[in-house]
Amino acid sequence: MSLSDIKQRMDALVKELNQHNYNYYVLAQPSISDFEFDQKLKELADLETQYPDLQDSDSPTQKVGGDITKEFQTVKHRWPMLSLGNTYSEQDLRDFDERIRKAIGNDFQYVCELKFDGLSMSLTYENGKLARAVTRGDGTRGDDVTSNIKTINRIPKNLRSTGFPESFEIRGEVFMHRAAFDRLNNDRIEKGEVPYANPRNFAAGTVKLQDSGEVAKRPLDCFLYFLYTDKPLFKTHWESLQAVADWGFHVCEHNKLCASIDDAIAFIHYWGENRFNLSYDIDGIVLKVNNYAQQHELGFTAKSPRWAISYKYKAEEVETVLQNVSYQVGRTGAVTPVANLKPVLLAGTTVKRATLHNANEIERLGLHVGDSVFVEKGGEIIPKVISVNTLKRTPNAEKVIYPTVCPECGSNLLRKEGEAVHYCPNDEGCPPQIVGKIQHFISRKAMNIDGLGDETIEALYRKGLVEHISDLYTLYEKADELNQMERFGQKSISNMLDGIERSKQMPFEKVLFGLGIRYVGETVARKVAAYFKNIDSLINASYDELISVDEIGGRIAESLIDYFEEPRHLEQIEKLRLAGLQFVAEERELALASDKLSGKTFVISGVFEDLSRDELANIIESNGGKILSSISGKLNYLVAGDNMGPSKLEKATKLNIPIISDKDLLNMLA
Ligand code: IVH
Repeated sequence: MSLSDIKQRMDALVKELNQHNYNYYVLAQPSISDFEFDQKLKELADLETQYPDLQDSDSPTQKVGGDITKEFQTVKHRWPMLSLGNTYSEQDLRDFDERIRKAIGNDFQYVCELKFDGLSMSLTYENGKLARAVTRGDGTRGDDVTSNIKTINRIPKNLRSTGFPESFEIRGEVFMHRAAFDRLNNDRIEKGEVPYANPRNFAAGTVKLQDSGEVAKRPLDCFLYFLYTDKPLFKTHWESLQAVADWGFHVCEHNKLCASIDDAIAFIHYWGENRFNLSYDIDGIVLKVNNYAQQHELGFTAKSPRWAISYKYKAEEVETVLQNVSYQVGRTGAVTPVANLKPVLLAGTTVKRATLHNANEIERLGLHVGDSVFVEKGGEIIPKVISVNTLKRTPNAEKVIYPTVCPECGSNLLRKEGEAVHYCPNDEGCPPQIVGKIQHFISRKAMNIDGLGDETIEALYRKGLVEHISDLYTLYEKADELNQMERFGQKSISNMLDGIERSKQMPFEKVLFGLGIRYVGETVARKVAAYFKNIDSLINASYDELISVDEIGGRIAESLIDYFEEPRHLEQIEKLRLAGLQFVAEERELALASDKLSGKTFVISGVFEDLSRDELANIIESNGGKILSSISGKLNYLVAGDNMGPSKLEKATKLNIPIISDKDLLNMLA
C-alpha cells in the first residue's frame, strides 16, 4: 500500500468510527457490535503507531481519556461569565424591547437562540488548538476541566479551517442528549448506583469527574453561543455564529435572526410547542441584540448584559396516580418521603417519583394511596406533587400515614419540637446513615480524599470493610479483601490509600466539618475551630461558652453538646486522633481568624485580580465581619473590584459609604 492509500484507509476509519460513536452515544442506537468496533479501532490504532505522522487529531483513539485529575485548578476568567436576566412573561419581553428602543433607537435586530439546559463552559483556543476549558464557577473563576472536555467529540481539539484569530475564547453549553441520559441512567439503576435527576445534572456530574477515562464513556455534546476576541472581527453576533460554525464548532441550527419583538415572541411560541421533539432539553429562549456596537452601547448591569434576556418556559404540570409513598433516609438520619407515581410523560421525560418533603406536606396534601395527583416539574427542580384531585378519590382509599419507625433499620423516629423533619436516631446502625456519613467525610468540601468516591464507599461498606470513618485509616491493613473487590484494580487501590494517607494533613476545621455534626456546616466548623483551637476544649465547652462564639446559636450549641456526649463519637475521635488526623488548629487558621472586622458590614462587588469573591467573603467572615447582599445606609464598606455595576457605585457614593479595594481590606487585617 502506498502512503496515500494508507492515509485514505486511516481517514475512512476515523470517519466511520466517529459515526459509530455518535450513533452509540448520542442517538443511543448502536450500528455495529462492540467487537467489530473494537477491531476497527485496533486497526486504526496500529496504523497510527506505524505512521504517527498520519494521525488525525480527530481520531477516536485520541478521545478516550485516561488521565486522573487530582484536583481541578481554579482559573480566573478573562471576561467574567455573567448570567442573563430572565422572565416568564411576554410583557416583560415587550418592556425589555421598549428599554432597548429608548437607548438605541428602532434600528436593530435580535438573534433568538434556544436556551440549552446544561452547564456553561468557556473554551480558549490558541493557534487553532484547544488550550483550556473552564467551568463557570462563581462567574469570576472556574475550574480547569480541559482534560475532561477534550473527550467530547463535538468540541474540536484542532481547528481545520482558516480565518480564526490566533487566540480567542468561545463560550457554550455542555449537555447530554436525552436518549444517552436515559440509557446511562438505567445502567446506573441496574448497577444499584444513584441515578441522576436529569441530563443537566448528569452532564455537570460528568464534567467534574476526576477520571477523564470515565468522562469519555459518558457522551456529552456542546453548543457554542458566544465568541470573545481581542480585536473585533465581526460586526454582529449573527456573523460570528456563522463564522465559528465554519471553524468547526457545533452551533445550533435553530438560531434565528428576528427583525422585531413580535418575531421573537413567535419563535418562543413555536419552541414552546415543539421543544419536546428536540433530542436535548431546553428551558427557554435567549434574545440577544445582534449588532456588537449596539451591545456595547447598551452595556451591562452588575450581573448581566442589558442587550440580552432569557425567556423561560413555565413548569409543565400533569395528572397521574400516586401508587405509594416510600421513605429515604439521609446521612443525618433525616427521613424524606418520596411519592412513587404511575409513570407519566412530563416535560419530555418519564416521571416516576416526586418529592413530598416531610410529614407536614403529606398532611397538607391530605394524601391517600391511589390518589390522582398533579405533578409539576420546573427546569431546576425534582418533580413535586402540588395538589390532589379529590374528586377522583375512591371511597376506600387508605390515608398515607407517616411511619413511626425507620424504614431502613426499624428504630423509632424522632421529631424535635418546631421542626418539620423526622430523624432516625440510630446513626451507628442504620445503613444509609453510615454510608452517607463516610461519603460526607471524604467529600470535596470536607476531607477531599482523592481516589475515593461515593460508589467506592458503598462498595466498601457492602463488603464489610468500612463502617466508621476511622475504618478508612486501617484499610491499608486489608489488602487481601481490597484485592478481591470487583472492578477495583491495583492502581485504584493504591490511589485510594494514598489519598487517605494525605488526608491526615487536612486542617482541623475540615476534620470538624467532615465529622458531619448536625448543623455544623463549613462556616460554623471554621469559627468553632478558630475559637476553641483544639478538639479537647471544644468537647469540654459549656452551652454558654458555645453560644458566646459568633454565629453559634442555641440550636448549634445543643447539637454539639449532644454529639460529644455520645461515648461512641468520642471513641471515633480518639481513633482518628491516633491515626494522625489534625485536631489542633494550625497557626494559619488561627492567624486568619480574628475579631478585627467584628461588627463591620461589607458588600463585595466586581472582579478582583488575586482573589475570588468567595475567598474575600471567607476572609471577611473569618475575621468577624458580615457580608450584606445590597447597599444601604447600614453598610460600612463596599469592596470594589473591576467592572462593578455603575448603579452600585452611584448608590454607595450617594450614601457616603467608603469604597475600598481588596488590598485595603487586607491592610485592615495586617
Ligand atoms: S448567552 C452574556 N446563550 O444560560 C451572555 N446563554 O442565564 C451569557 N445558556 O450561563 C450567555 N443557552 O449557561 C447564552 N443560547 C444561549 C444559552 C445560554 C443556555 C445558559 C448559560 C448561561 C445562562 C444564563
